[in-house]
Amino acid sequence: MTDLRPVGPAVAEQLPFVGFVRDAPSRKAIGMAAAARGWAAPDIREGNLEAAQAHVATMVAPAFLVIDLSDCPAPLGAVDALADLCPEGTRVLAIGTQNDVQLYRGLKALGVSDYLLKPLDPAALEEAIAEAHLEGGQGPRPASRKPHKGQVVAVIGARGGVGATAMALALAHLAAGSGQRTMLFDLDLQGGTVALDLDVEPVSGLRAILESPDRVDGQLLESLARVHALGFRLLAAEEPAEMHIKIRPESVLALVATLSATHDLVVVDLPRRLDRSVRSVLRTADRVVAVTSLSLAGMRDTRRLAALLAGLRAGQRPLIVANRVGASRAEVALADFEQALDGRIDLLVDDMPAVAARAAAGAVPLSAAASGGRSAESLQRLAGLVAPAAGVVEEAAPRSLWGRLRALVGRP
Ligand SMILES: Nc1ncnc2c1ncn2[C@@H]1O[C@H](COP(=O)(O)OP(=O)(O)OP(=O)(O)O)[C@@H](O)[C@H]1O
Ligand SMILES: [Mg+2]
Repeated sequence: MTDLRPVGPAVAEQLPFVGFVRDAPSRKAIGMAAAARGWAAPDIREGNLEAAQAHVATMVAPAFLVIDLSDCPAPLGAVDALADLCPEGTRVLAIGTQNDVQLYRGLKALGVSDYLLKPLDPAALEEAIAEAHLEGGQGPRPASRKPHKGQVVAVIGARGGVGATAMALALAHLAAGSGQRTMLFDLDLQGGTVALDLDVEPVSGLRAILESPDRVDGQLLESLARVHALGFRLLAAEEPAEMHIKIRPESVLALVATLSATHDLVVVDLPRRLDRSVRSVLRTADRVVAVTSLSLAGMRDTRRLAALLAGLRAGQRPLIVANRVGASRAEVALADFEQALDGRIDLLVDDMPAVAARAAAGAVPLSAAASGGRSAESLQRLAGLVAPAAGVVEEAAPRSLWGRLRALVGRP
């Protein structure tokens, strides 16, 4: 843990004080407060939260970081993402213009030392910097910096029962069929249906691994994984519903990173509850596939999910799949759905009850039960959208600055 003290010129470089601030008066006030606390060369730049993220992703994280949340549309998600990149000792002080107690509480919960409103009061600022020092190691969580090889695709349903698991199974099957070493990981240890759908023995050691980051070990995971006859591996549990399981987000990230180091593709089937583990996967996955129905509720929940993802992934949108199209007469028209979403639906997958019945009977993915035609084509297209080598090659969506940075530093 970094020991933050007021420092003189000799050690200022090892314990840097860095700020990314939007306006000149705040920059001046922070510079003066930092100097008053003994920081010899505080580095206060003009910049927003994305600039701070870029800095932390590419440089050694500073001991003290000031971030400016003014004009940040989803500050909690963005700060949560930043927290993953900061080593444990980094103190983060946020400033902004939004006078909102929920925001303040949320930031504190994320490990931010304090949140000060603009215009900054010099005395309050000095105090906040001093208090952050006294607080000790309550900085944001440590980052997982394991090397990343394969692509990680997270699949999540906007609502229950829309076919998220069905899409995850199809992706794993099609990728494996095209020669990719593929792992399917069901993060819902209690309610997940991957093992059930494929009639595979659940893995009982997964819970212990996810409750303790020290237990994540590539060889152990390799030995626990089931190998499906269709060529992909899978890790899926079926813990008792009443059991209290405390999955650690850092274990989940470590597990996914370990899997991605030895697989070309890791498909993560996510539960819909948006706890920290789920959010950490949503934030770090290379692609997120959001599955919905074309119902009114699906429209509302896809909108919500897309907004959450924009915050978590610095604006990068998910691939949106509308599934079981045609299943109901009460479907929202595509144009209305897209208008409500303020974006397009990337893929429509028809309702295919006969194929689904065959898949259930044979305990195989939909893609293995679909014998050609439109059904098989749309699933192939999905595989092409997330993993170009597995199906029809689609033009890749432009990556955000954040995505490019992550690639630059080799993080998932
Ligand atoms: N395109 C489709 N056509 C017909 N049936 C489908 C289609 N996609 C999925 N299904 C069926 O819908 C049901 C629910 O699918 P699935 O379990 O994949 O949903 P889910 O979103 O993962 O649900 P949960 O919220 O429980 O995780 C399954 O019986 C599945 O076979
Ligand atoms: Mg499911």
